Amino acid sequence: MQNNVTLLNLESLINYLYPESKHFFLQIFDSIDSTNSFLINLLKNKQISDNTDLIYVVAAELQTKGRGRNGRVWCSGFGESLTFSLSWSFKEYSVSQLSSLSLVIGVAIIRVLKYFSIEGVSLKWPNDVLVNNLKIAGVLIELRSGIKKSCQTVIGIGINFNLSKDTRSCIDCGVTDLFEITGKLLDRNLILSSLLLEIKKTISNFEMFGFSYFKEEWICYHAYEGKRVFLKIPNDQIVYGIVDGVNDNGSICLLTNSGRKMFAVGEISLRDIN
Ligand code: BTN
Repeated sequence: MQNNVTLLNLESLINYLYPESKHFFLQIFDSIDSTNSFLINLLKNKQISDNTDLIYVVAAELQTKGRGRNGRVWCSGFGESLTFSLSWSFKEYSVSQLSSLSLVIGVAIIRVLKYFSIEGVSLKWPNDVLVNNLKIAGVLIELRSGIKKSCQTVIGIGINFNLSKDTRSCIDCGVTDLFEITGKLLDRNLILSSLLLEIKKTISNFEMFGFSYFKEEWICYHAYEGKRVFLKIPNDQIVYGIVDGVNDNGSICLLTNSGRKMFAVGEISLRDIN
């Protein structure tokens, strides 16, 4: 366990969320396999109703089987990062209309980090959050179609707070954490409540106006806009191109030798490291 870490605490969270606290049902665990898996199970077992407006939030100090995108593992020790998931029921959206949701969540995280005076923040498509080009947060969204045109989502977020050497050695990309950047152990309850409030506001706007409402802001934050990249797409194919924004579904647009192409999935990396 880290020294001086502010542990997550229901009372503080509720105070920080007030008066919006009535919209959230909060649970905190010392240890859990994965906050995403926990909420997915609640949805499967119908312990969260299809059309509830209540936002279920599960946070944990330690995940023993934290999951990342594309089958990767999310590594963090006790209290070293903020790991939480929330459920959101979309009433008028199908699974295919939600491909850009993860980009919108990236925007919400960036706004909160900027609010706490974190500089050098950017996004890497689709939704890695970077500070000084090192990963500080990731988002894993899982979807379940519900009745009629509804869709239930579990939005899982991990934000690095104060990673130990051991944890860092398990992570296979350049990472940073809030302690390294600010030199301070920030109040995790305050950051979590700010994120929940911003995410609630952001998703409500996404439901009303769609991704186009966020597109320009997202592109401004994209670390790779205008850069020469390669994109690994399923079946181990690689596409080379220059990043030219994202479209209204959140797909990345690349200027390639055979024209401007859009991709809904894949992993991008810079071609020129300079
Ligand atoms: C990624 O960058 O690959 C996504 C990481 C998402 C990690 C979070 S931590 C809380 C939630 N529970 C999980 O098992 N994963 C997400």
